[in-house]
Amino acid sequence: MIYQVNQHKIRYGDIIDFDEDFAEDLKFDFIYSDPPWGVGNLKYWRTINKRNTGIISKEITFAVFLKIIIDFIKKRTKQETIIFLEYGQRWRKEIAEVFNNADYIINGIAESEYGNGNPYDIYIASKENNPLLDNWYYAVKNARKYKTLLAVTEPFKAIMRGKTICDPFCGKGYVARLALDYGMTFYGNEFNEKRLNSTIKILKNEDI
Ligand SMILES: C[S@@+](CC[C@H](N)C(=O)[O-])C[C@H]1O[C@@H](n2cnc3c(N)ncnc32)[C@H](O)[C@@H]1O
Repeated sequence: MIYQVNQHKIRYGDIIDFDEDFAEDLKFDFIYSDPPWGVGNLKYWRTINKRNTGIISKEITFAVFLKIIIDFIKKRTKQETIIFLEYGQRWRKEIAEVFNNADYIINGIAESEYGNGNPYDIYIASKENNPLLDNWYYAVKNARKYKTLLAVTEPFKAIMRGKTICDPFCGKGYVARLALDYGMTFYGNEFNEKRLNSTIKILKNEDI
């Protein structure tokens, strides 16, 4: 099911079935996502979904999940697309393989951390070397929470206005908020309807 708020579109469903609802030729200018990390996190989000909504989602292995991400990148991006990806440091090898298999190069990796001190990586990847990334690492490393998103995307702010951005695991709407702040069109996907409702509220300007 697709919800539309102004020009923004948010899909309620499992990422596995994304292609059922969006035309083959829909490709994004930017992707920013914080997908589930590893086996434990895949299980965690299924459990939360069941607890919040009573719905039991399909169980998939981590290998299948990584393949879904690769296929999504291959199918839904164009030559100029820039990808931002947040992921736990333990999976650096797997993430390098994801980008390699999708013919993307990693332009930079910045480390950030949660309030509890747990570190994670923020990747930026594209098909070309990117001259906009001077000082990017430093700015990201010293930011927290929503400010991290602003720091990560700051070098691209000027070129993001009027473009499309997709978060295939949009949760409560962190990236939707960025899309509004930057004047972008947002496309989201989320299998937990309760979390998705927060994204919808943000897009309707009810929760800012
Ligand atoms: C780490 S959270 C993302 C947090 C997000 N950045 C936010 O603003 O809330 C990962 C999200 O992916 C969703 N998710 C996990 N597996 C999914 C799947 N197979 N299809 C769609 N969404 C999924 C979870 O419900 C969760 O909201």
